[in-house]
Amino acid sequence: MHAAQLEPTPAELRRWGEAVLDLMSRYHEGLRDRRVAPNTTSREIRAAFDRTMPEEGAGFAATLQEFEEDLLPLVRHNGHPRMFGYVQSPGVPVASLADLLASMLNANLTVWRSAPGPVEIERLAVEWVRQMVGAHPAGDGIFVSGGSMANFSALAAARRTKAPIDIAREGAHALPRAMRLYVSPETHHSVAKAATLLGIGSDHVREVPVDDGSRMRVNSLETMIEEDRRSGYQPFCIAGTAGTVGTGAIDPLDALADVAERHGLWFHIDASYGGFAALAPAARAKLGAFARADSIALDPHKWMYLPVDCGCVLYRDPAAAYATFAHDAEYMRVMDSAPAESFAYWNYGPELSRRFRALKVWMMLRAVGLAPLRAAVEKDLACAALLAEKVEASRDFERLAPVELSIVCFRHVPARGRRLLDTASGADREAVERALDAWNERLLVALQRDGSSYMSNASVGGRFALRACIMNHRTTLADMDVLLADLRRIAGTLGEF
Ligand SMILES: Cc1ncc(COP(=O)(O)O)c(C=O)c1O
Repeated sequence: MHAAQLEPTPAELRRWGEAVLDLMSRYHEGLRDRRVAPNTTSREIRAAFDRTMPEEGAGFAATLQEFEEDLLPLVRHNGHPRMFGYVQSPGVPVASLADLLASMLNANLTVWRSAPGPVEIERLAVEWVRQMVGAHPAGDGIFVSGGSMANFSALAAARRTKAPIDIAREGAHALPRAMRLYVSPETHHSVAKAATLLGIGSDHVREVPVDDGSRMRVNSLETMIEEDRRSGYQPFCIAGTAGTVGTGAIDPLDALADVAERHGLWFHIDASYGGFAALAPAARAKLGAFARADSIALDPHKWMYLPVDCGCVLYRDPAAAYATFAHDAEYMRVMDSAPAESFAYWNYGPELSRRFRALKVWMMLRAVGLAPLRAAVEKDLACAALLAEKVEASRDFERLAPVELSIVCFRHVPARGRRLLDTASGADREAVERALDAWNERLLVALQRDGSSYMSNASVGGRFALRACIMNHRTTLADMDVLLADLRRIAGTLGEF
């Protein structure tokens, strides 16, 4: 056994690469037959690996074997066709290979001169993303690590633009009035986290109530803005969501844009989950307000099926981002005079060193094209609609939230639970509801341990919901039947309700 060299010979490199590609193709071939997630513990995983710092390497072949035999069985397979757990991506092979090539080039997309070709590819890929979702034609943006960083970048630009002082220089403590941001209880926590990190303060993140479809109430929003203004605060930004993480609700984006316009506020849309639903004609109609947003957070590493990491923030006016992120430093001075060649990504986001995330976006679109992507998104929407239909048609399942995109929230109601629900009222009914919460929680844990299908949970109207997020080109309509059969089979093992 030979330790691998930092620089292998070309023949050796080819052998390593062939072994990796062979593993990749076997992995994808057998993915559907794997357990979705391992049933293991931290202790077991730690025990599976030699923890001595290796002075001498074990060689590439032996290490790859360790990866396949010891690590692969301990992974949750996010690309499995019945991985319905979270708003996340399955990954696509063309992007895995693009990531490999991006690491090979080791391009660092700080500024044009640092990576001329890659920077131009990122600018092109961002423009394609802008067109895919229908954002404002003047808009431009940047790839970031994910939706959280996209929300952070957008809110930084919003605050910089709307602050009555030069906040970059004077700091938030110099503000004459606290600046306030409007979200809903369904908004992803990364928005409030960004507000905390930016010094806006969680007290100034105002939660606007939602309707029974989990959508922000526009009248309440307007009332809160007016009240806040009268009380001496400065409303500055409305953050709507296109696809909430809990149920996939879409806020009334056009109405929110109207309110933002009327009150002179920044309008941000967190479209990290729902943004690429715009590829499907049926959903695009609900997302027309993308063209009116000042900023949009998107996640190609969700419904564009790309492997992590790849988020994207689009700014309607890139100059607002420039004013927020540009910093002068002698070592960063760009000496080319032509504007295109002096373009610097560090002026449009928080990061300096940035990997070539754009390569997987560009390579997938170039190699696969938009049509299969659009078909896959439409298929995911159809799967969710079918699952909701089957749930509604059954006696032993109950849908708990409307299905706007590809998340279905429902619960299992065993026969005795159904009888009790049909007859109980008042405190008795609440007791049955609580028992159903506990029953479904047990069912979820057992499903995750079982390995055939994987779901997560959401709270809908205070009730425990099983949540299926369907965003995987490998998932078929037939998988909806398998999921419900898995749940029924496992419920049968839980004992008496
Ligand atoms: C609506 C929404 N916004 C933001 C995020 C955060 O995205 P990321 O995990 O890429 O940071 C998520 C993640 O699920 C999300 O669903």
